[in-house]
Amino acid sequence: MEKTFIMIKPDGVQRNLIGEIVARFEKKGFTLVGGKLMSVSRELAEQHYAEHKERPFFGELVDFITSGPVFAMVWQGNNVITTARNMMGKTNPVDAAPGTIRGDFAVSVGMNIIHGSDSPESAEREIGLWFGQDEVVSFEKTI
Ligand code: CMP
Repeated sequence: MEKTFIMIKPDGVQRNLIGEIVARFEKKGFTLVGGKLMSVSRELAEQHYAEHKERPFFGELVDFITSGPVFAMVWQGNNVITTARNMMGKTNPVDAAPGTIRGDFAVSVGMNIIHGSDSPESAEREIGLWFGQDEVVSFEKTI
């Protein structure tokens, strides 16, 4: 079953949006198979956002992600990678449609509430970076 990495960023945690966001994924029918509230080291943030290293906003991005706890999750389900991206909305909340997470709760591209893997390759890399093998449960629903 497909898995994706989803992170509620420090702004989402501080605005008490963990429950709202988890509820949206649960109601959609996806299964939570890993989750933890954690502080992020600069090293982990830099590894996670390595593809943006040359961008002018890289330092700001690392500063922000390390500024407070994040809620890191692994979600499982059919086509969860693309569907989660659609539920999150466009990266820049200005372009994110109402009804999406960023469209409903964010106004700034830096503080855009949530991150989700953008491809199967990213999902595998990001889950491996953020979670140990024993932190992701093997879970097929029976009811
Ligand atoms: P995310 O999906 O976590 O992946 C990369 C992040 O870079 C993106 O969400 C934005 O939050 C952030 N980002 C993109 N463009 C800018 C920008 N111009 N200034 C600050 N942050 C940005």
